[in-house]
Amino acid sequence: MVAISTIADEIVELKAKRHAVILAHHYQEPEIQELADSVGDSLELARAAQKFEGDVIAFCGVRFMAETAKVLNPNRIVVLPERHAGCSLVDSCPAEAVRAFRKRNPDHVIVSYINTSVEVKAESDILCTSRNAVKIVNSIPADKPILFLPDINLGNYVKAQTGRKNMQIWQGACIVHATFPARRVSAARAEHPKALVAAHPECPSDVLRMADFIGSTSAIIDWCTEQQAEEFIVMTESGVRFSLERLSPEKKFYFVANENCNCSECPYMKMNTLEKLAACLRDLEPRIDLPASIMERALVPIERMLAVK
Ligand code: 13P
Ligand code: SF4
Repeated sequence: MVAISTIADEIVELKAKRHAVILAHHYQEPEIQELADSVGDSLELARAAQKFEGDVIAFCGVRFMAETAKVLNPNRIVVLPERHAGCSLVDSCPAEAVRAFRKRNPDHVIVSYINTSVEVKAESDILCTSRNAVKIVNSIPADKPILFLPDINLGNYVKAQTGRKNMQIWQGACIVHATFPARRVSAARAEHPKALVAAHPECPSDVLRMADFIGSTSAIIDWCTEQQAEEFIVMTESGVRFSLERLSPEKKFYFVANENCNCSECPYMKMNTLEKLAACLRDLEPRIDLPASIMERALVPIERMLAVK
């Protein structure tokens, strides 16, 4: 047997032994992305989980993403390197409040962003991600009133893009994107006048108004790669720098600090480390275990979303 010389070697070996796949979101540290079988945005990773045929998924992202992978693979093991890797959007939207809304408004179609707990997914009619939210809302008959939850900025963006009037929006927000101040984007544009601005739709509307492109994390990476421009101000989590610089080493990418951490990092995403990834493949813990009845109900809106091409 070959001696294990580094933690990366150990992860590769454990992955083979466990018949595991490593799925990593773009906001993970570069050393995790380097070891992943798939790196993507939340929609791409849900599709990768749907196709998976091995025994174990090690999900390097946050809990709602790992829960989605578990719902799509109820008989497989899904592990999350850091059990406390949460999301402020999930915290902003408790399932009891969604149930209460449903009771008061039985005619509404509940469109839930994938950044929700599995319990909220179980109360939802259809899911969406930042990549397909406009398409999903457009797939709902125009006369049906909608509750869009939980991200207020994505909701307002989708409402403007679709021209949908009968759409209520929850008041949740992402602590990373919602705290990017427009004045810092203006300052970055003054400093880099040739740079184009790409923004994630979780950013506030005054930031989105300054953007040349608005899209999911993977859509931002694809767009920056395709453009002729050489400089970009990127209004999302700085983990995307890894793919941006790999695909376009000659281009320059500038990130703007937010007012939450004075950085552009998601504190939850950055809880995962190589050491924790090795440990979860070794111990098969922390494991995502969910009640079968909740998984069955949550699968319906997830599959409805994945069926929309
Ligand atoms: P994406 O759908 O672009 O991957 O975004 C997920 C997310 O958590 C953004 O903050
Ligand atoms: Fe949640 Fe925001 Fe972190 Fe994405 S960046 S996981 S929305 S807190």
